[in-house]
Amino acid sequence: MIFSIIHDFENGFSNGILAAASQKKYSIVSLSRLTNKRILLGVTGGIAAYKAAEIIRRLQDAQAEVRVVMTRSATEFITPLTLQALSGNPVHLDLLDTDAEAAMGHIELAKWADVVLIAPASANFIARLANGHANDLLTTLCLATIASIAVAPAMNQAMWLNKQTQENCKKLQERKTGIFGPGSGTQACGDVGPGRMLEPLELVKLTANIFPNGLLDGIRLLITAGPTREAIDPVRYISNHSSGKMGFALAKAGVDAGAKTTLIAGPVELPTPARVERIDIVSAEQMHDASLELSAHCDIFIASAAVADYRPVAAAQQKIKKNSESQLIELVRNPDILADVAAQTSRPFCVGFAAETQDVIHYAQDKLQRKKLDMIIANDVSATDIGFNAEDNAVTVIWPDGQEAIEKTSKHQLAKLLIKKIALCYQNANS
Ligand code: CTP
Repeated sequence: MIFSIIHDFENGFSNGILAAASQKKYSIVSLSRLTNKRILLGVTGGIAAYKAAEIIRRLQDAQAEVRVVMTRSATEFITPLTLQALSGNPVHLDLLDTDAEAAMGHIELAKWADVVLIAPASANFIARLANGHANDLLTTLCLATIASIAVAPAMNQAMWLNKQTQENCKKLQERKTGIFGPGSGTQACGDVGPGRMLEPLELVKLTANIFPNGLLDGIRLLITAGPTREAIDPVRYISNHSSGKMGFALAKAGVDAGAKTTLIAGPVELPTPARVERIDIVSAEQMHDASLELSAHCDIFIASAAVADYRPVAAAQQKIKKNSESQLIELVRNPDILADVAAQTSRPFCVGFAAETQDVIHYAQDKLQRKKLDMIIANDVSATDIGFNAEDNAVTVIWPDGQEAIEKTSKHQLAKLLIKKIALCYQNANS
C-alpha cells in the first residue's frame, strides 16, 4: 500500500520515493533557486484551497513570479479576486475566456511556466490528470506544457487510500509528475489519516528543489551596457560604436545562472533578454544616476558600457547652423560611473571592462587599482574581428591576485564563462 509519495528532487525530477506519510524526505534546499522562476499555480476544489494564498506569498518571498489558474470548484473555496490581488496577475478560470485569452492565451501560459504546481490537487483532478483529460483550462494546460508538473494531493484519507487514487498517482509518478505529500493528521472532515495537503512552505521548498542549483541563485546583478549619447544640439550627439552585445549577453548569462538581473542600457537595437529588467538611458549622466541609485541594492555590478568620457558643456537649445568655417564645441568630463559605484562604503562586487588598443594588460591593471575594482576584463579593441560591434570577443580576466586569458569565442559563450568566473570570485570574496 502506498501511504504517501514524497519525491526527493535533486537537480530536477528523479524517480519518486515511496515513503510513510509522516516522513519528510525532501532535502533542505535554498529557496533562492526560485529567484526569477515562473510558477503556474493551479488551484483545484478542496478546503485546502485557502492555503493557495500563502503559497503565492511564499513563492513571491523567494522572488518567483506567480500566475494562477483555478478550476471552477476552487472558486467555491477562495475567490479569484483574492488570488489575483496576491499574485498581481489576472487569475485564469476558463478555457474560452476571451478577456483572459487576450491577456495571455492558454498555450502562451503553458509555455510561460517553468513549473506547474497544483496545490491543492483534489482526487478528481488527479484522476483527470492521470487519464489525460483536457476538459478544463488546468488539465489542458498540463497537456500543453513542457514544464515540470507537481501535484499536492489534498483529500479525505479514505479517498487517498482508495486503490483508484493510488493507481492514478502511480501513473503520474511514472510520467515524472511530482507528488508532493500528502501529510497525515486530523482532517477537515474529522477523520484522521493521510490526505492533508503539505504546508505552503514545505511545498515551496519542494518546488525550489525542482530547479538545478544556479551559480548566482538569489544574487542581484546590475549591468551597464551599450554606448551613451551626449547631445550637442537637438539633432546631433557624440557617441561611439559600442553595440551593447557583450552587456546584453552577460545579462542573459546572469539570469540563466539564477541572478535577479537589471540592465541599464544606452541606445542600442537589441531585444531585452527574458526576465531581465531593462532601464533605458541616453546620456552618461543618466547612466550615472541610475547606476548609483540601483547599485545600493545589488550584489554584483558589471560596467560593460562604453561611456562617453566627455560631453558638451551645454547642449545648444536650437540646431547649430553652419555659419562659420570652423566650429568649436567645449567638452567637459563625464563622471566615472564605475569608480563612483566602487567608491561607496557599502559597495557591490565591482567588475569593469578595459577596452584598449595597446599595452592592454598594463592599462587594465592600472584601471583595476585606480578604480578600486574586484575584477577587470581586458580586451584589445584594435583587432577588427573582436570587441566593438563584432560577434566574437577574446579577453583577459584580471583580479587583484591573478589573471586568466579566455580565447576568442562568441560573445554569448564568453558571457557564460565570464559569469562563471565572476560568480566564483564573488563567492571567494564573500566566504
Ligand atoms: N566607465 C564608467 N564610466 C565612465 C567611463 C568608464 O563606468 N565615465 C567604465 C566602463 O564601463 C569600463 C571601465 O570603466 O568598465 C573602463 O572604461 P574605459 O573606457 O576602458 O576606460 P576609462 O576609464 O574611460 O579610461 P580611458 O578612456 O582613459 O582608457
